[in-house]
Amino acid sequence: MPFNTKLTRTLGIKIPVVQGGMQWVGYAELASAVSNAGGLGILTALTQPTPEDLRKEIRRCKTMTDKPFGVNITLLPAITPPDYGAYAQVVIEEGIKIVETAGNSPGPVIKQLKAVNTIILHKCTTIRHAQSAINLGVDFLSIDGFECAGHVGESDITNFILLSRARQSLKVPFIASGGFADGQGLAAALSLGAEGINMGTRFMCTVEAPIHINIKREICRASEHDTELVLRRWRNTSRLYKNKVSQQAVKVERESKSGKFEEVAPFVSGKRGREVFINGDPDYGVWTAGQVIGLINDIPTCDELVKRIERDAEATLSEVQSLIVPASKL
Ligand SMILES: Cc1cc2nc3c(=O)[nH]c(=O)nc-3n(C[C@H](O)[C@H](O)[C@H](O)COP(=O)(O)O)c2cc1C
Repeated sequence: MPFNTKLTRTLGIKIPVVQGGMQWVGYAELASAVSNAGGLGILTALTQPTPEDLRKEIRRCKTMTDKPFGVNITLLPAITPPDYGAYAQVVIEEGIKIVETAGNSPGPVIKQLKAVNTIILHKCTTIRHAQSAINLGVDFLSIDGFECAGHVGESDITNFILLSRARQSLKVPFIASGGFADGQGLAAALSLGAEGINMGTRFMCTVEAPIHINIKREICRASEHDTELVLRRWRNTSRLYKNKVSQQAVKVERESKSGKFEEVAPFVSGKRGREVFINGDPDYGVWTAGQVIGLINDIPTCDELVKRIERDAEATLSEVQSLIVPASKL
C-alpha cells in the first residue's frame, strides 16, 4: 500500500524515502533508479565541474526517469567557493522543482530558489540551524543525526534525541537522516514524527550506484565500528570510512603541534577520495560513510531496496499496532 505523508504528497512520490546528495556518487544512474523505484533520487550539483555540466546531467536524468527527482546544492567553506548562484540558476532553468540544500550560509541560494517556488529540503544537524532555515522559508528539514555520513556538525546529538526535539519544537515538517537502511528504521522515524527518511550510505551499496563494486563489497564487510571522525580540530568534522588514510589523518590531527590544516590536507584530499570510487581500492584515499554501514549486507537494485523498505515498514507498523489490545482481551 502506498504511504501517505506530507513528504509523499508534497513531492509526488510513492514511498517516503529520499536519496541524499552524495559527492562523486549522486549521478543520473542512481538518482533516476531511486525515483523510478518510487522514492526521491537526488543529483549532486557539485559533482559536476560546472553549472553547464549540471545542466547536461539533469537532461540525462530526465531521459532515464519521468518521475520527480531533485538536485543537492552543498555550500561548504572554500577558499574559492563555486558559483552556487549559477548552479541554482541552471536548476531553475531546467525546471527542477525540488532542491536539497546543505552547509553554511544557504540564505542567498534558498532565496533565489524560493523566488520560483522550488521545494527546499534543508539538511541540518542542530535544532538551532533548523530554526534559522525555517526563517529562510524552507519546506522540509532533513534532520541529520550524529550517526550520519559526512558532515556531522560539532554537537554530536544522535537521532533518538534530535528527531524528538524536532517533533517538539519545529513548525515545519521534517525527515529523518542518518542511520537509516531498512523498513524498521522508516517505521521508527515515522513513529518519532518524521515524514520520511533520507539515506546516503545505504544507496551507495546498490547495483545502480556508479561506484566500483569493490567499495560496495567493502561496505557489506564493514561493521558499525568502521567509521572515523576527521577534522574535529578545525570544527569541520566529517564521518568517513575507517581505512589506512583516515586513521593516518586522525593521528596527524591529534599529534600535530602546529595545528595547521596543511599538515592533514594531503590525507583528506577530495581528489583521492574520488579515485577510490573509480579504482575500487578502499585504502587509496578517504571516502564518506555512516555508522549505518554496520547494517548493510547486500547489494540490491534500488527497486528491490525501496520495495523491501516499504514492505518491512508496513509489517513493522502493523506488528507494533498489534501489541495494543483491548483491556478485555488481556
Ligand atoms: C559518499 C557520500 C557522499 C556524500 N556527499 C554529500 C554531499 O556532497 N552533500 C550533502 O549534503 N551530503 C552528502 N552526504 C550525506 C548524505 O546526503 C546523507 O545526508 C547521509 O549519508 C545520511 O546518513 P547515512 O549515510 O547514515 O544514510 C554524503 C554521504 C555519502 C555516503
